[in-house]
Amino acid sequence: TPKGSCLESVKIAIDTGYRHIDGAFVYYNEHEVGQAIREKIAEGKIKREDIFYCGKLWNTCHPPELVRPTLEKTLKILQLDYVDLYIIELPMAFKPGDAIYPKDENGKIIYHETDLCATWEAMEACKDAGLAKSIGVSNFNRRQLEMILNKPGLKYKPVSNQVECHPYFTQPKLLEFCRQHNIVIVGYSPLGTSRDETWVNVSSPPLLKDPVLNAIGKKYNKTAAQVALRFSIQRGVVVIPKSFNPQRIRENFQIFDFFLTEKEMKEIEALNKNIRYVELLM
Ligand code: A2P
Repeated sequence: TPKGSCLESVKIAIDTGYRHIDGAFVYYNEHEVGQAIREKIAEGKIKREDIFYCGKLWNTCHPPELVRPTLEKTLKILQLDYVDLYIIELPMAFKPGDAIYPKDENGKIIYHETDLCATWEAMEACKDAGLAKSIGVSNFNRRQLEMILNKPGLKYKPVSNQVECHPYFTQPKLLEFCRQHNIVIVGYSPLGTSRDETWVNVSSPPLLKDPVLNAIGKKYNKTAAQVALRFSIQRGVVVIPKSFNPQRIRENFQIFDFFLTEKEMKEIEALNKNIRYVELLM
């Protein structure tokens, strides 16, 4: 993102009423997020405990001895004492080192063998040390979640699993599994992504152009984006819409003053195509 745009957007978001901020070291803007939070605290607009900041452990940092130092690096960049949630960003590990995407001479990602359960134990230690109030995972499938849940001597369950989730990819089975285990689903790309071809499968049609979402929106004087977000929160999925546009940041917050009927929820559920925008081919 252009320098400063994240700082501005987070400040506008906090003023609008947003409190949950989804970040990551690999977004390279944690310093701006931290600055925005600190400025808003200094202004007296919020207190630290009003904010829910989620940070992420990147793939090159899975070896257990790297977990705490990596979180400490994020805290130093943010200039905060703790994160509210720290999550394993992806269930696969890359070779540790400075390269975020370590590649061999053929351009192939260099993976790294680690034990996810050992990584999880290091995450538990971060919680015990007070550096993360809660710990969770991201992009985990059922099998990977079960591996953690069934780990001998498990101290803390993952509180959440952040995965792609929206009307075209509704995740019914994973949602049910997580419900049974009290794991909150946090839905990323709730608006169908920015359709950036470098990481998005753009052969799947744009979510916000969907006729059903637009027709339902018309009835409530809402946009397709607002209907998509409302659908997710109404089925218990946390949403983390991304926008760096002040008007859309505000628009995406105006979703608490209308209610979709059961019939509309079913109609939107039926839009599921079971196709991911974010294929994570690596
Ligand atoms: P922008 O940052 O210019 O607002 P997702 O949250 O699914 O990843 O989607 C993010 C994309 O959707 C971004 O390209 C963002 O662009 C765009 N976007 C965010 N809010 C809205 C909205 N209310 N209507 C249309 N597009 C939106």
